[in-house]
Amino acid sequence: MNTKIFYYSYSGVTRELALTLKAKLSSGTSDLVDVVEIKPKKAYNSLTAYSVGVKRARMGDCDPIEEVNTDVSDCDIFLVGMPVWAARPAPPINTLFRDISSGDGRTAVIFSTMKKSGGIETLDAAEKMLSEKGVKVAGKFALTDKESRTDEKAEEIAAAVRAAVHQRV
Ligand SMILES: Cc1cc2nc3c(=O)[nH]c(=O)nc-3n(C[C@H](O)[C@H](O)[C@H](O)COP(=O)(O)O)c2cc1C
Repeated sequence: MNTKIFYYSYSGVTRELALTLKAKLSSGTSDLVDVVEIKPKKAYNSLTAYSVGVKRARMGDCDPIEEVNTDVSDCDIFLVGMPVWAARPAPPINTLFRDISSGDGRTAVIFSTMKKSGGIETLDAAEKMLSEKGVKVAGKFALTDKESRTDEKAEEIAAAVRAAVHQRV
């Protein structure tokens, strides 16, 4: 199984979950699990995240990002993790959705982390962008910061990934 986990994280919560998922999905197998961090060219800080970032998130804007390989043709499945910003995906991850290539016929599992609300709206917006690229979303997980640190929730996501791959073969 060849898996990629793309994520953006401003304050570390989504990163922690992405790395936990990598550990879970690669444990006891020879499967390749690549983790790809999406980084905006201009990093946000506590001032700009709330002044500029929230507006850009609401508008669905795409931030310029450091170059990454966005080709998913060699993935059996890929995951995308994002923080919720004003009930929308944070703008750097919009750029990934815009730039994903060879998505047609691919399967994804997506997850968001939040303080308390807006996760479902965020994932619905993300699913819409992915479906425009021909990607089928096999699982959507909106977690609070607290839930994202529990083994139970991480295991739920990992199980959805394994089930989706199983269905493809
Ligand atoms: C600019 C900004 C906007 C946010 N908007 C929301 C929101 O609409 N709803 C919510 O529950 N949490 C919101 N949060 C909190 C984050 O979504 C949450 O803490 C998330 O887990 C952070 O993930 P990260 O550490 O990977 O960046 C916001 C945080 C920031 C910085």
